[in-house]
Amino acid sequence: MSPCVNWLQPLLALISSSLLTRGHNCPSSCLCPDQHTVDCTGQGLTRVPDSVPLDVRRLLLSNNWIPWIPSDFLVLYSDLVYLDLRNNSLSQLDPETLSTSSRLVFLDLGSNNLTEIPSGTFGESRSLIKLRLGNNPYLSTVGLEAFTGLTSLRELDLESNGLTVLDVRVLDPLPSLRRLRLEGNPWLCNCRFANMFMWLTENRHKLPTGMEGIECSLPVDGRHVPLSVLSEDSFRECRGTLSLTDYLIVIFSGISVSVAAIVASFFLASTVHCFQRLSKGSKGDEEDGND
Ligand SMILES: *[C@@H]1O[C@H](CO)[C@@H](O)[C@H](O)[C@H]1NC(C)=O
Ligand SMILES: *[C@@H]1O[C@H](CO)[C@@H](O)[C@H](O)[C@H]1NC(C)=O
Repeated sequence: MSPCVNWLQPLLALISSSLLTRGHNCPSSCLCPDQHTVDCTGQGLTRVPDSVPLDVRRLLLSNNWIPWIPSDFLVLYSDLVYLDLRNNSLSQLDPETLSTSSRLVFLDLGSNNLTEIPSGTFGESRSLIKLRLGNNPYLSTVGLEAFTGLTSLRELDLESNGLTVLDVRVLDPLPSLRRLRLEGNPWLCNCRFANMFMWLTENRHKLPTGMEGIECSLPVDGRHVPLSVLSEDSFRECRGTLSLTDYLIVIFSGISVSVAAIVASFFLASTVHCFQRLSKGSKGDEEDGND
């Protein structure tokens, strides 16, 4: 598709839907209790309804069978503040789809079939305060920059997903975070979990269930234990494992030691050789003198 057509498509969609939805038409099978709310909860929808008024602010689409969000969706509905897509059939998010949601404050994508939250999914959704991503049982991957730009985010739900580990650097770009739900994931308490454990210990006031509400399985016997029975000491052995810098130091000092050894043995060998020649030479002189 040429770039021109790419650009025209949303524009045409915009024009046609603004013609269609002039006034305050309510999509069939949805309710519109006030001027800015469209409620299509539990209507057996298999796609986002057309003819939603463009100035909609609250769009309730939960308990349907919607498998994807059109990528120009939030370009069209740029006034959206509240979007509820809980309990649908979403299996992936296009990176462009949610990155234009500058007014969105509440987004519920819980109880879907998402497998991954890729980096950059939410773009610069600076207004977003609540983000629900729980109950996606196959969700096992969160991109390192998945939440970059969410500077207002206060509540993040990642409970009852398929996460075994979470790189805590994912949470670094969230200065406003007050509540984080992580319970109900198949967390693995191995050395990769050590950093997350330290982070959780320091931020336990942000966990609604506390450390006792989050369980992980032990690498030794697979036993499930609440995080509250573990301590920094439980990860003591992990400190013994070497980091990359440690490896470099070890390798480098190994090389230095071998170079030093080679230089030293070369020096020793040539000294010995020198002495041997010297003593031979003086013997020869003696012999010459004797003749
Ligand atoms: C999810 O949506 C389906 C389809 O509408 C409905 O039958 C089911 O009860 C909903 N589940 C929950 C937990 O609301
Ligand atoms: C959900 O995703 C998993 C893994 O990608 C797939 O095996 C399963 O069929 C999906 N379920 C639904 C209801 O789409």
